[in-house]
Amino acid sequence: MHPSELLPHLQQRARFATRVAKRRLGHQAAGGDAVDRFHQLYYESEVFGGTWMNTYWLGVPIWKCPFDLWVYQELLHDQHPGLVIETGTAWGGSALFLASMFDLIGHGSVLSIDLRPRNPRPAHPRIRYLTGSSTDPAIVALAARAAAEAEGTLVLLDSDHSCAHVRQELQLYSPMVQVGGYVVVEDTNVNGHPVRPDFGPGPMEAVDQFLAAQDGFVVERAMEKFHMTMNPRGFLRRVR
Ligand SMILES: C[S@@+](CC[C@H](N)C(=O)[O-])C[C@H]1O[C@@H](n2cnc3c(N)ncnc32)[C@H](O)[C@@H]1O
Repeated sequence: MHPSELLPHLQQRARFATRVAKRRLGHQAAGGDAVDRFHQLYYESEVFGGTWMNTYWLGVPIWKCPFDLWVYQELLHDQHPGLVIETGTAWGGSALFLASMFDLIGHGSVLSIDLRPRNPRPAHPRIRYLTGSSTDPAIVALAARAAAEAEGTLVLLDSDHSCAHVRQELQLYSPMVQVGGYVVVEDTNVNGHPVRPDFGPGPMEAVDQFLAAQDGFVVERAMEKFHMTMNPRGFLRRVR
């Protein structure tokens, strides 16, 4: 993070922590239905180092909700993609989870991209890491080549969650998915859907813009069957 970004970042984190603490102390009623309230409880526990900040796959931090991981396991089994392209590696927990599922299934590989990955990332014969921005033309070209060589590609967008970046990723990576396949836009829950109302336009707004501009993808709400997902309206299925 650039030094000039540090103070605004810390101020935003402090406001977030204050709001969470007030809600926990009962000063502010948690609105919405049971699923939204659980979602807020789950997500905001991160402030105290809980839930998604305290989740590991084989000892490696993985910033996901187990409900969503179970859905990914079902997608990998049912769709049988030869490749998962993941933007946003972080510690590599999600890449390792996907590679472990591929081990069980018996085929498939993971291409995981990060601008500033943490070290060390887990080594696994099914994982290939790329370092750079997911929207860098050289990275996109490598990903497109890998997708063209694979028998089916699943794309998971989990890098920079600003609306503009996710919109660009959707534009660049959605053509890599075959008809019937999925692009999953992660963390559509921010900007008040139902968490982090302070976030500003993010992945959900990018999905809205993307869907309004083309008719090749639809939202597959059946993937939200466990009620709580960090990707509401984020499971996009290619229909043409
Ligand atoms: C939410 S984390 C990824 C979490 C990981 N997929 C998991 O589930 O454990 C987002 C990651 O995106 C990376 N990132 C931010 N901007 C990026 C960009 N333009 N291109 C690629 N990665 C980026 C960050 O460095 C960070 O590690």
